Amino acid sequence: MTELTLEQKAAIVVGADFWSTVGVPGAGIPPIGITDGPHGVRKQRGGNDHLGLGDSVPATCFPPAAGIASSWNPALVERIGVALGDEARAEEVGVLLGPGVNIKRSPLCGRNFEYFSEDPLLSGVLGAAWVRGIQSRGVGASVKHFAANNQETNRMTVSAEVDERTLREIYLPAFERVVRAEQPWTVMCSYNRVNGVAAAENHWLLTEVLRDEWGFDGAVVSDWGAVDNRIRALEAGLDLEMPGPQPGSTAAIVSAVRAGTLAESVLDAAVARITALVAKADRGRRDLAGETSMSSIGVAEHHALAREAAAESIVLLRNEGGLLPLDSAQAIGVIGEFARTPRFQGAGSSQVHPTRVDSALDALSAIATVEFAAGYSFDGAADPAPLIAEAVAVARRSEAVLLFVGLPAGDESEGYDRTHLELPASHTKLIAEVAAANPRTVVILTNGGVVSLEPWHDSVPAILEAWLLGQAGGGAIADVVFGTVAPSGRLAESIPFRLQDTPSYLNFPGENDVVRYGEGIFVGYRHYETIGLPVRYPFGFGLGYTTFSYADLQVSHRRASVTITNTGTRAGREVAQLYVSAPTDSGIAVPRRELRAFEKISLEPGESARVLFVLDDRAYSHWNVRTHSWLIAGGEYTIGVGGSAHDIAQSAVVHLRAPKPGRLTLDSRVSEFLAHPVTGPILARAAGDATDGEANLLDMVASMPMRRLMRFPGVGNSFKRIGLLVALANNPVVRGIAALRRRR
Ligand code: BGC
Repeated sequence: MTELTLEQKAAIVVGADFWSTVGVPGAGIPPIGITDGPHGVRKQRGGNDHLGLGDSVPATCFPPAAGIASSWNPALVERIGVALGDEARAEEVGVLLGPGVNIKRSPLCGRNFEYFSEDPLLSGVLGAAWVRGIQSRGVGASVKHFAANNQETNRMTVSAEVDERTLREIYLPAFERVVRAEQPWTVMCSYNRVNGVAAAENHWLLTEVLRDEWGFDGAVVSDWGAVDNRIRALEAGLDLEMPGPQPGSTAAIVSAVRAGTLAESVLDAAVARITALVAKADRGRRDLAGETSMSSIGVAEHHALAREAAAESIVLLRNEGGLLPLDSAQAIGVIGEFARTPRFQGAGSSQVHPTRVDSALDALSAIATVEFAAGYSFDGAADPAPLIAEAVAVARRSEAVLLFVGLPAGDESEGYDRTHLELPASHTKLIAEVAAANPRTVVILTNGGVVSLEPWHDSVPAILEAWLLGQAGGGAIADVVFGTVAPSGRLAESIPFRLQDTPSYLNFPGENDVVRYGEGIFVGYRHYETIGLPVRYPFGFGLGYTTFSYADLQVSHRRASVTITNTGTRAGREVAQLYVSAPTDSGIAVPRRELRAFEKISLEPGESARVLFVLDDRAYSHWNVRTHSWLIAGGEYTIGVGGSAHDIAQSAVVHLRAPKPGRLTLDSRVSEFLAHPVTGPILARAAGDATDGEANLLDMVASMPMRRLMRFPGVGNSFKRIGLLVALANNPVVRGIAALRRRR
């Protein structure tokens, strides 16, 4: 570092422009390119902006996270990561800004299409696979947006007020998993504040948790424009401010170091992390030799991968009477503008310029005889009545109808949230009329965030949730509709009956720039399952063209295995989900069940396979806010395995021993003295004597710190020599003897 001047160092920690870092040619530091992400390479050509407004070079548009998350298939996500890495390298991009692993706290979040799930395990496993794929090609990832960025309303200023346990159990674990497992080259801090402190200036988040606890050794990048005070951000652990240039930031750093108000070592640490990042990217770029254009890496191959991924992202929600798959010899009515003009990604910074786009109408027409009617228009200008009449006429003439409805582009986007879950009124009206005209109607949904299926759900026999599927979604829909590919997607988020049922309903999007995460850890299915509130479709749910049975669950606390059999007549894929239910009598509030492992398997008709799940301590732990660490409460844990959060086919119990008692002090509670193997029996006897056998006295004082109890005249007399008790309890020899006696 010595060869760099203070001015050069202060310049390096700020971007050179929208999409590159500052190079110092004399010191052998080249600039590197950074672009969005996550589901395609958005390298801008002309004017610079970060909201997807300017034109970008063509790149494969893979299914956005909301789609691909439904695949529950990390191996597939990793392959997409590899493809993204290759495209990024071909465009000389050193870091791709993704994946987004924020939790879908509310279905209203305008950016849910860019996030995976309401569940931290699923988000973390898929996010890690994405990073593994990209980085295996010598291109860095940027896991975002760290942290608690779960809404777009006032995203630059709002403070997410989240309690410690909820942060640790819900909002941080996906980041933690990606960091610990894959060491992403960068982490992007979010715009918002977390418990009052801007993420960009949050030392606890960016240094204590991310680096000191999780061992992150990469660089922290700001979200675009997230930095207010460059000095505070640097001290918190934010290495690279984007976008640049920001002459004010550079000048402020130089004068703060000169004035002695900023330690130069803080600046040096950030510079070292950025130069290490640049070196990695530069190595990746040089390894590339010979593969420098999109044409050399196979646009067609990547399109085929995008189609495979899209087909695996589709979730079959309903299929009464086995209407799907359709026979391609039938006369098929295709209704809905989305079939002709697909909406395949969300709006904002992630908007990719696709290499090509397949419409479902073209893909279906290539296989079957179809008749098309638009049914509605996107501009809303046309009179809907004739469009609906035309659609109804087509429906009457057809043997089956594929009806495409969903959310128009303007309904969900980066930058703002939705206020309701409804489809446009013109779409629900169309569903009613078409379903009445043809009972063999399949609704195909296009949407990034969850939409309400009410009140029309029961009026149609089949529903495909087709999310936003990327550029090859049209072909993928045809694959699933005609059964070339059996649907195997599973919901990565619950579909509620009503917005009012959602756990964050009373606390979204907050007021006066503060949003209180009042539902705590009870996010998504953790809420619905715990309070027994029915949903339209639960987390993890999805049908196929076959059925599966579960048998012979074997569990130990580290492993579980179960036999799954394809009981139908077609090949298919099942996502076996393992949920753990923690004991409810430990004094810690726990969700009814939590996803702790999952496996996706393919089975031929009649075939069985044994599926193995591996569990670690975290599967049983809660975050203890007194010790600020993970803790396993002793007791009975139920391990349930099945096809959704609400459909547990097999379950079994494992007993876990209570953790070794911690050291007692006079500030420990009476209950802790009672639970302690040394002091418990002594105290119980003393209390029994003192109260003439009034059994509930101890319950009444159990929550009191011992020091307080001792202050009560009379009562305190019964607990003489408490100091001696404490000393005894903490003596290792006495503890050992007590533990032995308990075991006998
Ligand atoms: C978004 C990021 C994005 C960045 C650069 C921001 O507005 O929040 O996700 O990577 O812009 O375009």
